[in-house]
Amino acid sequence: MPDAARVPNISLSKTGHETPVHLIYHDVLKATAERLRRAFPGEVMYAVKCNDNPLVLDALHAGGIAHFDTASLTEIAAITKQFPNATCHFMHPVKPAPAIRSAYWDYGVKVFALDHEDEFEKIVEALGPNAKRHKILLSVRVQMPAGQTVMCLSGKFGAPLGEAAALLKKVHDAGFKTGLTFHVGSYCTDVKAYSVALKRCRRVQAMAGEVPIDVLDVGGGFPCQYLGTEPAFEAFAEKIAAKYRKLGFKGPCKLFCEPGRALVGDGMSMLVQVDLRRRNDLFLNDGIFGGLSELRFLGPYFPIKLVSDRPVEPCPTAEFQLFGPTCDSIDSAPGPFLLTDAVRTGDWIEIGRLGAYSNAYRTRFNGFYSDRYQVVKGHPFWMLEAAQTSIEDAA
Ligand SMILES: Cc1ncc(COP(=O)(O)O)c(C=O)c1O
Repeated sequence: MPDAARVPNISLSKTGHETPVHLIYHDVLKATAERLRRAFPGEVMYAVKCNDNPLVLDALHAGGIAHFDTASLTEIAAITKQFPNATCHFMHPVKPAPAIRSAYWDYGVKVFALDHEDEFEKIVEALGPNAKRHKILLSVRVQMPAGQTVMCLSGKFGAPLGEAAALLKKVHDAGFKTGLTFHVGSYCTDVKAYSVALKRCRRVQAMAGEVPIDVLDVGGGFPCQYLGTEPAFEAFAEKIAAKYRKLGFKGPCKLFCEPGRALVGDGMSMLVQVDLRRRNDLFLNDGIFGGLSELRFLGPYFPIKLVSDRPVEPCPTAEFQLFGPTCDSIDSAPGPFLLTDAVRTGDWIEIGRLGAYSNAYRTRFNGFYSDRYQVVKGHPFWMLEAAQTSIEDAA
């Protein structure tokens, strides 16, 4: 591959200065949604928190996503406005009572997550006596063992098995439809984590006296191919299907999953400008308070490439540390990130696989904020390079 690539349909000379651009690969997002839906033995919903950009949502919807895991009334309102026929699931286990009430009565939401009996009482009271309980599904979130993933969520949400079982029984006895759900933690690279989780859910059902469950929602957590060694979504789906069959859950028990990262990670990148090269430190016009926070949390695994309108001679690769534009010294990603040594002040670089928890995490800290989005046709450089490598490996 050449040292500098061009981003399809973007002219850097017309891009202007100082403002990073979020590139949206619509075809990649759509194809990923179609692929995950083909692989999963149930319904795939999308966790909106991961990336709520309307253009991203459009691409997923074009790929057949019609169910959305929403965590707030704001997300529910936005999804309902953009896709009036979509189904929102209110999967945050802790919700303000007015949000519960409005979700049901104003937006027709009929699925709510919970992990504590006080939340159950709150939901019952907020819905009121006229709610049609037999059409409302309450999904009990089961706590997962810690330490299974890079980003564990169990410290915050999920009921221990005994409490989850009592809650499940309570939901059933009160005349609601029943569900169990969990989240193994984000960026999970071990398919066995889902077997462990399903076993825990089956145990909860047994402890609750085998009350039937209508929905088993295996959450998100599926990885993106940052390292290239992560199991594919298909491997997780196969494992989940096999374990689910083996455990013999009682009830209609339709399977759902709610990926964020695995659906959108590959479908976006950022185009950032080098404000200064100081030795092998690159000061960029975006950083961890903008769309690049995952670079610091997850490490130097994101594909990175010089994209330049100027002629660039082939040059060896060097190791770089990245700094963002704010004055805070934590606004940095130590890397090392591998990039051509030809990079210099004023150049633009594209950082790939930034669809998950990137633009969603942006702040306006120090006045730096980019809201520039550009839909790009075709495939991004990291996918083309991966395809090229596998052709070369096969030859
Ligand atoms: C309830 C719930 N579902 C799904 C997701 C999406 O997780 P991921 O992006 O790891 O797939 C999250 C992320 O925090 C979540 O809290």
